[in-house]
Amino acid sequence: MSLRAPLKLAILISGRGSNMTALLRAARAGEIAVQPAIVIADRADAAGLVSARELGVPTADWSGQSPAGPFESMLVSTLEAVQPDVIALAGFMRILSPALVGRYLGRMLNIHPSLLPAYRGLHTHRRVLAAGDSEHGASVHFLTPELDAGPVVLQSKVAVLADDTEAALAARVLATEHVIYPRVLGWLADGRLSFRSGTPWLDGQRLDSPIVEDFRAPVV
Ligand code: GRF
Repeated sequence: MSLRAPLKLAILISGRGSNMTALLRAARAGEIAVQPAIVIADRADAAGLVSARELGVPTADWSGQSPAGPFESMLVSTLEAVQPDVIALAGFMRILSPALVGRYLGRMLNIHPSLLPAYRGLHTHRRVLAAGDSEHGASVHFLTPELDAGPVVLQSKVAVLADDTEAALAARVLATEHVIYPRVLGWLADGRLSFRSGTPWLDGQRLDSPIVEDFRAPVV
């Protein structure tokens, strides 16, 4: 239990929003000291918007703009109105400008479905299967202007199984995302995690490499 004021949280989504839901549920359960202030989508049909409203969190989406301007203008004015302490990207499919990323540097997190720096970009599960890798996972990292290149705080590691399909592997990785993303946000909210001079620090220790949480089944 934290004695600090809860961090005001904005979440950016583009789609189904299962990571967003994991963050909102962890906040609602009092597991992480954040106050969800808004969920913002770059698409009006993002399914996660419905889930956010069901959980009582205000939403904004691009379609509300009249006349519709560039998405980032809408995003900037919405963020300026809300003044979030932290912004979590959760399945957000748009690249933000270096100016916007710079403005929130150290306060923007992203989750990516691979063991970064491996497999930046799209279709990570398919590429892992095509390469015949034995391990895969997800990474929670601070956002920097270069795509999927920000310093990683925490990774989940899963085994790639002999009979894996892209969907099965994706589902197994996603289940771990729902564990590691709230954890990292909780560290930030508790003041345990910070970002200084381009590097994450956890509990006073510089994180030169990510923490790895192993979700592979034990070998018996
Ligand atoms: C997740 O796999 C996340 O790692 C990636 O996009 C997917 C979003 O899924 N960035 P959801 O919208 O959170 O369900």
